[in-house]
Amino acid sequence: MKENTSIPPKSSKTAPCQHGPVQKKPSVFKTQEQKQLDATRAQLVVFAKDFKHMLRMKDEQSDKLKKAHAQLLTYAKDLKVALEAEQQKNLELEKSYTDTILRLARASRYKDEETGAHIDRLSHYSQAMALYIGWDSTKAQGLFIAAPMHDVGKIGVPDSVLGKQGPLTEEEWLSIRLHPQLGANLLEGSHSPLLEMAREVALTHHERWDGSGYPHGLKGTRIPMTGRIVMLCDLYDALRSQRPYKPSFSHQKTCDIMLNGNDRTKPSHFDPTLLEAFREMHQRFDEIYTTVQDIQ
Ligand SMILES: [Fe+2]
Ligand SMILES: [Fe+2]
Repeated sequence: MKENTSIPPKSSKTAPCQHGPVQKKPSVFKTQEQKQLDATRAQLVVFAKDFKHMLRMKDEQSDKLKKAHAQLLTYAKDLKVALEAEQQKNLELEKSYTDTILRLARASRYKDEETGAHIDRLSHYSQAMALYIGWDSTKAQGLFIAAPMHDVGKIGVPDSVLGKQGPLTEEEWLSIRLHPQLGANLLEGSHSPLLEMAREVALTHHERWDGSGYPHGLKGTRIPMTGRIVMLCDLYDALRSQRPYKPSFSHQKTCDIMLNGNDRTKPSHFDPTLLEAFREMHQRFDEIYTTVQDIQ
């Protein structure tokens, strides 16, 4: 029998070594992928650092903003306190102005036949009329305080003229007719809106819409509204009141004189808008006249 001498086919598998499997040595060269990974990692580290830095900056900014906000709140509180103190001061100043006005009004009363109730009623009529024609309550309240000052200038008119029972001479009339200007001189130069309103009233409460009044013969809207209102109210009260030269008239007779005129009073003396308002709300005048009376 022929011995098989043929060389056995080369196996594709490597015969195991007697020392165990062969370890594959790591390559000292990085693959392209590894290089990319490293670069990305390095970039991420840089990004992380930047991000941390950014966060720290944001925190610092936020702290600064919080501090600024707290500071602003403190300023706002301080400002509020200062503003309230200022308002309180203004209020007290206004009160003392009002007080001055009322004391001056009282002083002027001693010089005249007009009573305390006349002064009080004038405040009420004027305020009622101002509100009726649409003034806001603050301005109407101002007129309430200023109206009693209309005759303050009579302080400068001699008692012998003011208290004279008989008819006045031309010279005496001239002296009486000075009282609006005297009153205005007394009240001028103040920063108080109330005193300024009182000055306006004192100066213009004898002006007439048709220009026949005094001291300047102002016509129509050249007469301040304060003066136009007080003039109408003053006349209503004068007609209702007893004076040395006339008896007291009823509300009805007074309305008739004002709306239709007589030998002394003409409807053209009044601002037509105010006369129309009076026609509509004259009952309020009567209520004020009958309610506000001198205590006997
Ligand atoms: Fe007067
Ligand atoms: Fe008066």
